[in-house]
Amino acid sequence: MTASVLSLIAIDGPSGVGKSTTARRVAARLGWQYLDTGAMYRAVALAVLRAGISLADAAALEGLLAGLDLAQRGERVFLAGEDVSEAIRSQEVTRLVSPVSALPRVREVLVEQQRRIGASGGWVVDGRDIGTVVFTGACCKVFLTASPEARARRRFLELEAKGGSPVFDEVLQDQQHRDAADSSRAVAPLRQAEDATALDSSNMSLDQVVDWIVAKHQAHA
Ligand code: DC
Repeated sequence: MTASVLSLIAIDGPSGVGKSTTARRVAARLGWQYLDTGAMYRAVALAVLRAGISLADAAALEGLLAGLDLAQRGERVFLAGEDVSEAIRSQEVTRLVSPVSALPRVREVLVEQQRRIGASGGWVVDGRDIGTVVFTGACCKVFLTASPEARARRRFLELEAKGGSPVFDEVLQDQQHRDAADSSRAVAPLRQAEDATALDSSNMSLDQVVDWIVAKHQAHA
């Protein structure tokens, strides 16, 4: 079942385009809530890593999904009550999350949770398949893009700001692998919904992107 939610903004796009920051700011402007679906896939990848199970072990994966206790409060993400907001951003999780998010059972379970959460309306939801699969009835759909170089540059600066010593070419290459995996998977690949508006943010500031989405939403409200 696809919930036909009117008051919901779906923001899809590739990694590193600034969806989370943008979505959070749009939600704050409208007094709405924000759901980071990428964080949900990351939390499952973290749970898989910690449990040490193989992605090929369907029974073990089913057991893990059955006991999955995920929550988001404000900017924090919780797994079985533990704050895993930092742990889900680790390199290990980032590498595992693409294959984890390609598993149909994982998507089924998380999409069901996402629909339950967003069904009340008043949500800004970001991800890869929000406008195409999860909330096809969302009133406002944005497909946020930016050139690969612009996205890698932002990610590079983010890693530097966190005290790391990233190598630009490696950041760009990692991103290209993730783009290819997210766009070519069989289930819910990243693509623009027919009724979504694409926005290339390569040469836009965060404020400009937020203003654009809020204005688009208000034009349709
Ligand atoms: O947005 P992010 O980088 O935190 O997403 C992490 C991974 O989860 C990314 O590889 C794509 C996947 N994902 C997905 O398949 N569907 C979503 N709705 C959100 C994220």
